[in-house]
Amino acid sequence: MTRGSDDRHVRIYEVGPRDGLQNESTPISTADKLRFIELLADAGLREIEATSFVSPRAIPQLADADELLRTLPRRPGVRYPVLVPNERGLARAEATGVDAIAVFTAATDAFTTHNIGMSVAESLAAFAPVLARAGELGWWRRAYVSTAFGCPYTGRVEPQAAVDVARRLQDLGVDEVCFGDTIGVGVPSQVGELVNLAQGAGIRVSRQAFHFHDTRGTALANVAAGLAAGVRTFDSATGGTGGCPYAPGAAGNLATEDLVYFLDASDWEHGVSLDGVLDAARFIADKLGKPLTTKVGQAGGWDPATGAATGQGD
Ligand code: COA
Ligand code: ZN
Repeated sequence: MTRGSDDRHVRIYEVGPRDGLQNESTPISTADKLRFIELLADAGLREIEATSFVSPRAIPQLADADELLRTLPRRPGVRYPVLVPNERGLARAEATGVDAIAVFTAATDAFTTHNIGMSVAESLAAFAPVLARAGELGWWRRAYVSTAFGCPYTGRVEPQAAVDVARRLQDLGVDEVCFGDTIGVGVPSQVGELVNLAQGAGIRVSRQAFHFHDTRGTALANVAAGLAAGVRTFDSATGGTGGCPYAPGAAGNLATEDLVYFLDASDWEHGVSLDGVLDAARFIADKLGKPLTTKVGQAGGWDPATGAATGQGD
């Protein structure tokens, strides 16, 4: 069964500094990344995926991960997970004072082969020692299952395939599995189906997170379906940036500002300030030299007492 409907608290897991920036070709300085992360924490975000300890050749934008983590001021109560693909990445994370990681695989071999040069089974074998060591260190551990709704190389993905991978990751000790709609093809009915199937496989809904891309405009509808099914953790990227360079056609993560507006207006609690997120969104859009094109980034929030738009800066 899902958790009670009186549970009104939602966790917003911010992926802007990692997923948001990894596919951007305009180089962002380490100082600007640090400022972006500070603005996100100022906005009340409490989980901010900071960067990736992957091959700098694979993701040049995040080649400064070691320096970033060495200099990042940690705030009490804020978790700064980093992406780790292998033991080398884990060692880098350990050397820079990390205490939360995310490993990443997918529901399809074609996607993992392009993204990390391994089959799904090989990736699970590679993660086993990484997750075991992180567990010994007492770190928080998340695992992504990308292409949970569809694969850019092989098409439709059966939900059971995503759930099977998620279950194996849970068996490797992760605290949370995150189902990724990497190319933004999923619709609400599929979200409910996946949640229920995962629960049936022994993955409690409190250990499920969802990561939607708004490529085809379905991300918020999918969040609503996740909420109705009992999910309380959703990923988003401030400014709606991002995508995976190894996922052709992937565009735009669900924007944090769009998610926050939606949750506020629907009376979900989350502790994040829309004005603060909009400040951070404008900052990163400016550094990327792009206009802010998210819905709420353009329209602002809305004050029901006056009817006026809010949060549009000076
Ligand atoms: N950190 C830094 N460098 C790393 C590394 C890590 N965690 N792991 C491997 N490398 C380096 C190796 O030293 C080697 O460098 P070289 O070419 O200068 O000799 C190179 O990366 C390739 O290493 P190899 O072990 O042969 O692995 P690979 O080429 O099969 O790459 C990954 C495997 C996982 C390291 C690579 O595909 C990767 O980093 N992918 C990340 C993709 C990503 O982040 N996608 C977005 C998230 S959805
Ligand atoms: Zn994403």
